[in-house]
Amino acid sequence: LVLVMDFGGQYSQLIARRIRECGVYCEIIPFSTPIEKIKSMKPNGIVFSGGPSSVYGEKAPRCDEAIFTLGVPVLGICYGMQFTAHTLGGEVSRAQTREYGNTRLCIEGESSFFAGVSKETQVLMSHGDFIAKAPAGFSVIARTDNTPVAAMADEQRRIYGVQFHPEVQHTPEGMKMLRTFLFDICACKGDWNMGSFVDQAIASIRAQVGDKRVLCALSGGIDSSVAAVLVHRAVGDQLTCVFVNHGFLRKGEPEQVVKTFRDGFHMNLVYANVVDRFMGRIAGVTEPEAKRKLIGDEFIRVFETEAAKLGEIDYLVQGTLYPDVIESGTETAAVIKSHHNVGGLPEDMKFSLVEPLRDLFKDEVRLLAKELGLPEDIVWRQPFPGPGLAIRIIGEITEERLNILREADAIVHQEIKNAGLYRKVWQSFAVLPAMKSVGVMGDERTYAYTVGLRIVSSEDGMTADWVRVPYEVLDVISRRIVNEVKDVNRIVYDITSKPPSTIEWE
Ligand code: XMP
Repeated sequence: LVLVMDFGGQYSQLIARRIRECGVYCEIIPFSTPIEKIKSMKPNGIVFSGGPSSVYGEKAPRCDEAIFTLGVPVLGICYGMQFTAHTLGGEVSRAQTREYGNTRLCIEGESSFFAGVSKETQVLMSHGDFIAKAPAGFSVIARTDNTPVAAMADEQRRIYGVQFHPEVQHTPEGMKMLRTFLFDICACKGDWNMGSFVDQAIASIRAQVGDKRVLCALSGGIDSSVAAVLVHRAVGDQLTCVFVNHGFLRKGEPEQVVKTFRDGFHMNLVYANVVDRFMGRIAGVTEPEAKRKLIGDEFIRVFETEAAKLGEIDYLVQGTLYPDVIESGTETAAVIKSHHNVGGLPEDMKFSLVEPLRDLFKDEVRLLAKELGLPEDIVWRQPFPGPGLAIRIIGEITEERLNILREADAIVHQEIKNAGLYRKVWQSFAVLPAMKSVGVMGDERTYAYTVGLRIVSSEDGMTADWVRVPYEVLDVISRRIVNEVKDVNRIVYDITSKPPSTIEWE
């Protein structure tokens, strides 16, 4: 076990994730954790995260200084290093200018910490304060042009500090350093894996839930699916999942969800087929925000009704991931679109939350999904918006239009998969602008719908670029849709990035 002591840094989770990538189990603890508790956890090593504070600040986070006397190796990163230096008698000063960005690091001497690292290497710096003098017992093991003590080591006490961020990709040799710390200095074994995560998660879900009942809104997306399967492993039939089919799902999707979870995993699954109800309500609605709001509200109503039928339930499972936890803090951001997902349930529903994926990143959830035996289709499913196809039909939603879009979308899906692009792109789907144009087929004039193709690459959905899909692939998609989907005679490719566009058309 390695502990990441969180001093409020934006990279604390990333540090934890890097440690897990090395096959070492790791937990994040607040800096205020009592020393007795830390001792009782018997860590092999402790990493201090960065943080926005200055050690001289009034509210500067400080942990119990006894941490340096436990005999456990410590690695301080950025603020964590400054805290170490300050506490152990070194000198921390305010820099004239902040040092931010890729910086050349020069390694000095032969420290065990930099074993195998190039003498000059690139690192990411992001700090205002710097260490002017290392504490007694420490040697300076690296510097940069602006930072005299960019890394320091007390090999005897096994306490290390780095001013830069070894955990980010902009520090290409950072993982080497972390590995050295974990394996050579802390003597970790590196035998932890997603299987161990499953065991730990199951134990903690059982401890939280006891013999109470649990509810889950299952969408078939990877996050809610993984969360549900994990909770099911932990508490079996105490879990009931509710899957709402609002009628705006893709071809074959409802059947797949029912088959996977009911037949495959033998879970209690309530399938609320409310297609007619949604179609009745959405008729005539064309304004994008009105559609989103209507579907979101109606979804909640259906979910509440189904939950009420189940009687007393105490817990609600949510597939919240770590990035959702950080991003939920954006109160000032303008509303571009009111996003709705199955997690967006009303506040007045009186449940305690079970969030087994809170500490994980998306790609870790994929590994976990595989570990749990979820089918490939779910493991690699591209993001799909809560309001579904309803926001991919511009203008009024009719059954005819839904059918056209569903068929066209299935072709895009198949061909992007055939071309080996499905996992490489962020999303690939069809939209129906619901405009008609004139064409000619078999000497006859046609007047039919246009289908738009939206295929984008993205890291997180916040920004995106259109994918330069090979012409041949676009050609096959175009021919197939026009030939196989009735009432379509034109295909266009959306070549705008986000911004200024958005990924979805509404
Ligand atoms: P936009 O269209 O805003 O989409 O560029 C960014 C990403 O978010 C997805 N999206 C949604 N996801 N509920 C969701 O769960 C929603 O209401 C919703 N709207 C958009 C979109 O598919 C893209 O990945």
